[in-house]
Amino acid sequence: MKNIVILISGRGSNMQAIVDAQVPGGRIAAVIANRADAGGLAWAAERGIATAVLDHKQFAGREAFDAALVALIDGYAPDLVVLAGFMRILTAGFVNHYANRLINIHPSLLPSFTGLHTHERALAEGVKFAGCTVHFVTAELDHGPIIAQAAVPVLDDDTPDALAARVLKEEHRLYPQAVADFVAGRLLIDGNRVKRSG
Ligand code: GAR
Repeated sequence: MKNIVILISGRGSNMQAIVDAQVPGGRIAAVIANRADAGGLAWAAERGIATAVLDHKQFAGREAFDAALVALIDGYAPDLVVLAGFMRILTAGFVNHYANRLINIHPSLLPSFTGLHTHERALAEGVKFAGCTVHFVTAELDHGPIIAQAAVPVLDDDTPDALAARVLKEEHRLYPQAVADFVAGRLLIDGNRVKRSG
């Protein structure tokens, strides 16, 4: 069994999709949030999953928070660390510690629209397709070898919320599949590319 630790900051709908997928060979070892009010925590606890909160506001800076987060996560002996709406910029030390076993989902077709407010910015730019990306995490924000992407059309009457909902539906399909591919050992990192075998 591969141990999976999932980090969230809010409602955790991607975390729920991954838990519900019951990835073969994978075990959700813990769900950790940086906010006590993250809605996904109660959902996970109700299902008997270990949960923990590490409040970033209790730490003097990023380095101290990330060091404590590494210690907490490593207590669950993770084979894979999954960022699922974890809204913290991570230090190079954290990212390097979990090199090649730390993945993220971002609500845009990277490398377009890194950072926040992706759907507002996609509409402002007038793009005709939006989407989501699952990628291995490297020290540069919202960069790293891309594991999978899904595209959705942008409709003429879209609002940021309508577009976000269309993209989120794809996130819930894409992320469990990517986790399953990782756990099954189907992902081969080759420079900036990820090749999928089997
Ligand atoms: C998701 O749309 C995810 O792609 C995004 O936050 C949302 C979390 O929703 N992540 C980022 O913007 C990371 N930069 P969820 O808590 O319901 O999974």
